[in-house]
Amino acid sequence: MPRLQNQIALVTGASAGIGLATARLLVGEGAKVVLNARRQDRLDALAAELKGVAVPGDVTDAAVRARLLDACGGRVDILVNNAGYAEAGPAEMVKEAAARWQLEVNFFAAAALMQGVMPFMRKQRSGRIVNISSVAGRFGYPLFGWYCASKHALEGLSDALRLEARPWGVHVSLIEPGPVETEFFDVTKDRAEGHINDTSSPYAPFFRHVDEVEREMMGRAVTAERVAGAVLSACLARSPRDRYVVAPMAKSTVLALRLLPRSWVDRLASRQFRVPRPEELR
Ligand SMILES: NC(=O)c1ccc[n+]([C@@H]2O[C@H](COP(=O)([O-])OP(=O)(O)OC[C@H]3O[C@@H](n4cnc5c(N)ncnc54)[C@H](OP(=O)(O)O)[C@@H]3O)[C@@H](O)[C@H]2O)c1
Repeated sequence: MPRLQNQIALVTGASAGIGLATARLLVGEGAKVVLNARRQDRLDALAAELKGVAVPGDVTDAAVRARLLDACGGRVDILVNNAGYAEAGPAEMVKEAAARWQLEVNFFAAAALMQGVMPFMRKQRSGRIVNISSVAGRFGYPLFGWYCASKHALEGLSDALRLEARPWGVHVSLIEPGPVETEFFDVTKDRAEGHINDTSSPYAPFFRHVDEVEREMMGRAVTAERVAGAVLSACLARSPRDRYVVAPMAKSTVLALRLLPRSWVDRLASRQFRVPRPEELR
């Protein structure tokens, strides 16, 4: 017997990576899916494959979110807030509009969907909200400040909602994947091109080893299917965890944050991201 028989699951960012793998896994367990992402061709193909409903559009658009909730047909058992990207670049240099958009997509859109599904879940006295966060929701990595800010915000709101929603039988979990083999790093690098190629920037020395940093990280990446497995655990567990940390690299970072003085973790992260020494600056 499929474990999510006839449950309605809303998955954002389903056209690629973790969202796509999650949608497939949930349907494999009997769920009916309502899918969102901007690339309509991909979304339509996936919806046809999974016999789900595609609601294409930008998740920051309130009208798109209203259509998503409508498409659920009066019941929402699972919300997977997954749509997201990273606006990389020095915290000082990321333009205000880009910084605000990072928060719009990764935080405010997810927050609005949580608010949108709660009335259904309260009425049902059951529901699972699974927010795809990141270890960047616990620690501020250099050159990812605005991404980290968006995921910290998501973690804070999820923690509060977890306590508020529990009396209605609604569970809220966070997923902290660590590096995953998806389009994420390509999208990140494309968006950060202006920073990476700006040889006149005072931060140019930070980008000298960017390919090496990426190679090291991707060498330790897990598959999107593995992250989807963690989402499924959060949907099935009788008492789901507050956080599911997936990749070994993410687990070791979380352990380091728990056990080591922050100054040591800072040093490790600075080495990992090749933060230049003072004498390397111009
Ligand atoms: N990959 C990693 O290493 C990693 C690590 C930690 C956390 N995460 C988190 O995991 C989540 C999924 O990322 P991924 O790795 O699967 O990356 P991905 O392969 O780039 O997929 C991102 C998904 O989000 C969708 N999306 C982006 N902006 C959107 C918007 N404004 N409206 C609607 N959909 C939007 C994209 O679809 P369209 O382009 O078609 O809209 C795509 O389906 C993100 O929240 C990310 O922060 C990823």
